[in-house]
Amino acid sequence: VFPRNRQARIQPSEIEQMYDAGATICVTGMEQAHPRLHAAAARVRAEMAYAGEITFRAYLSPPGSGFDLHFDARVATTLQIAGKKRWWYSKEPGVAFPMHNSGREPAGWPRTRPPARSELVEVVLEPGDVLCLPAGAWHCAKAEGKSMSLALNMAFDHKGGGFLDFVTAILQNRLVRDAAWRQPLPVHPGRKDRMPDPVASMLRVRIEELQAELAALLNNEAELTRAWRKAMRAMRSK
Ligand SMILES: [Fe+2]
Repeated sequence: VFPRNRQARIQPSEIEQMYDAGATICVTGMEQAHPRLHAAAARVRAEMAYAGEITFRAYLSPPGSGFDLHFDARVATTLQIAGKKRWWYSKEPGVAFPMHNSGREPAGWPRTRPPARSELVEVVLEPGDVLCLPAGAWHCAKAEGKSMSLALNMAFDHKGGGFLDFVTAILQNRLVRDAAWRQPLPVHPGRKDRMPDPVASMLRVRIEELQAELAALLNNEAELTRAWRKAMRAMRSK
C-alpha cells in the first residue's frame, strides 16, 4: 500500500524493494499458512457463533508510512507487535455494516463523505496494544518514530453472514425445487421500454408464491431452526 491508499499485489520476493520504497506491506490469509492462527480463527468464530468469516493479516510499515483515511467492510482488530503506530478513527461508523470498502463502492451505491481530521480520535499503539474498530469506521494510521511497525490484524468479515444471506438461502433452498422458479425468463425480443405482458404476469405469479412462502415460513419454527442449525454447521466447517 502506497500513499493515497494506492495498492498493488506483489510477490514475496518483491517485499524488500516495496518496503524500501515506503510501502506498507500487507500479507493476507495468514490463517491459511499459520496453523495456530488458523486454530485461533476457528475458536473465536465458534465461541462467538460468528456467522461471517474471520481472517488474519499482517502489516509491516516503514517509519512514517501507513494508510490514508478510509473505511473497510469488516471489523478490524489490530494487535501492535513491534514499533509504534499512530491511529486516527471516527467515533461512529460512516456506514453501518458496509458491503464495500470506501472508494470501492459500485456505481449507484451511496457514498459517504469522510469526516474532518479534527473529528477523529487519535491514539498511539505500542507493542501489546489492541484496537478494535467496527466495520465502516473511518480510520488512518502511520508508523510512528524511527522504527518499522509490525501489526497483526484479525478481520471479521460479515459478507455472506447477514440476515439477507440467511433468508435468501432458505428461500433458494425451497424454491429451487420448483421448475417454475428454475426456468429462464421468457424470451421476448424487441421490447426495451416496457416489460412484455407474458413476462409481467409470470413474474406476478412468482411474487405471489414468494409471499405465500414467506407467510408459511413465519410460523414454521422447525424449518427456521433447521436452517439456523445448517448455517451454524457451515460456519464451523469454514
Ligand atoms: Fe483499514
